[in-house]
Amino acid sequence: MRKLSAIEHRLIEDEHARLDQLLQDLREACCNFGSVKDCQGCGREKIASCQGRLNSFAYDFLDFVIQHFRNEEKIMAGASRTQDSNEYFRLHQKEHARLLKEMESLMQELLAMSKQGHTAVAIREFHYRVAELFGEHTRTFDDPFISRPHSGKE
Ligand SMILES: [Fe+2]
Repeated sequence: MRKLSAIEHRLIEDEHARLDQLLQDLREACCNFGSVKDCQGCGREKIASCQGRLNSFAYDFLDFVIQHFRNEEKIMAGASRTQDSNEYFRLHQKEHARLLKEMESLMQELLAMSKQGHTAVAIREFHYRVAELFGEHTRTFDDPFISRPHSGKE
């Protein structure tokens, strides 16, 4: 595997930072985020606005993740030059597909929950589950790839 160029490296890091930012925006949408409460303390209008925010967040986030996986895979495919790194690339690609499926079903489950009036719980759940899924993926698949030192052999 060749070392990533500064531009490739920057692109991946910027996209990872954007994913964190999106999650932070979601966290800030809910005024009960730090508690275990549902939406009892909020009025009808605020609840409707949170539901709208969660809906658009879910679709924006998924779109961004799809685009990010595509970019990351393109860079990885270009950097993989040995059989070992090709194999690693395929595993990583497979993991992206699995993550997307998991995200889609999580989204459906939580948007239905929000529609029933449990928007605060849905926002919290979305935030923690996504942070967990992506945190693990980043540690296992992205970090070794991004910080892999140049081997000299490629
Ligand atoms: Fe990845």
